[in-house]
Amino acid sequence: MHSFVGPPKSNPKPFEHARLAGRRRVPLRCPVAKRWTDGARGDEVLLPDPGWPNYEMAVLALRGRAIRYPLHIENAFVPRIEDLERLVTPRTRILILNSPSNPTGAVFPREVVASLMQFAARYDLWVLADEVYEEIVFDDAHISPFPVDPARTVSLNSFSKTYSMTGWRVGYASTGNAELAQVMAKIQEPQISSVPGPAQKAAEAALLGPQDCVAQMRDAYRERRDAVVALLRSRDLFSYEPRGAFYLMLDISRSGLDGRTFALRLLDEEKVAVAPGTAFGDVARSQVRISLATEPSVLLEGVDRTCRMIARIAAGATVGV
Ligand SMILES: Cc1ncc(COP(=O)(O)O)c(C=O)c1O
Repeated sequence: MHSFVGPPKSNPKPFEHARLAGRRRVPLRCPVAKRWTDGARGDEVLLPDPGWPNYEMAVLALRGRAIRYPLHIENAFVPRIEDLERLVTPRTRILILNSPSNPTGAVFPREVVASLMQFAARYDLWVLADEVYEEIVFDDAHISPFPVDPARTVSLNSFSKTYSMTGWRVGYASTGNAELAQVMAKIQEPQISSVPGPAQKAAEAALLGPQDCVAQMRDAYRERRDAVVALLRSRDLFSYEPRGAFYLMLDISRSGLDGRTFALRLLDEEKVAVAPGTAFGDVARSQVRISLATEPSVLLEGVDRTCRMIARIAAGATVGV
């Protein structure tokens, strides 16, 4: 293999090698690539709160600033333009959208997608549309931001959710921006080279094989969503409609505990695992995420135990009583 850096002059540490190699490998003439290698230092990215935690990790890894826009349970976790208007600055570069959403199950209606895209155009932002749950929508159709403005949008997708191929590490990105597509291809080669052959074959089989499993799983998740929401409503613990993905957020503020403490106690006392809202940002600190990705009887038993614990703590009972 050839070297991109040449012999080191003064025995640099491995970290310095990596930085040198990175600098020389990526074509700096292209403004988009230059931004990437310069670490997008100080550039701001608007991302959802609560939202999938990896968005923030990716932004911080590039030395950008993660600016979280709030998603309120009272608004069924759909973004509000006024919140974004408050947070946008001349340094804002990217708006990250995730519908259907992890962790809330929210699906953005057409008019919301339209106004989000108008907002992005107004401030000349890239839009990163994470659409990995696009096939798991229960009530209305999934509305993709992509066709609204393909040249400013990168749509992210994965085989993980549609084909239950979590762990196979096969995903893809699409953009209508030719210059950006070229840069993305250049960046992905030094970063990940390519997807391993067996995983590519599995993805090919998923795409070319019968598609009934996609609708079957969506219907199964819908039935679980209906059953869980009905149970939570019967205990007066639920106030919004999760319309996609396979999660919902439960407000546990009645217990007086924050999401993390509640989740740890639930595991300890009731042997039920939920994800604390704090894993997804600050806004959902009094919430926990329930995943529908388990067998209905187990799921309903877990939700029942969760309700039981909220009631027990709210009533002031102590552990074991
Ligand atoms: C919102 C969201 N985006 C992206 C991913 C990534 O999926 P994968 O890395 O398995 O393709 C996940 C996985 O949980 C997710 O919830």
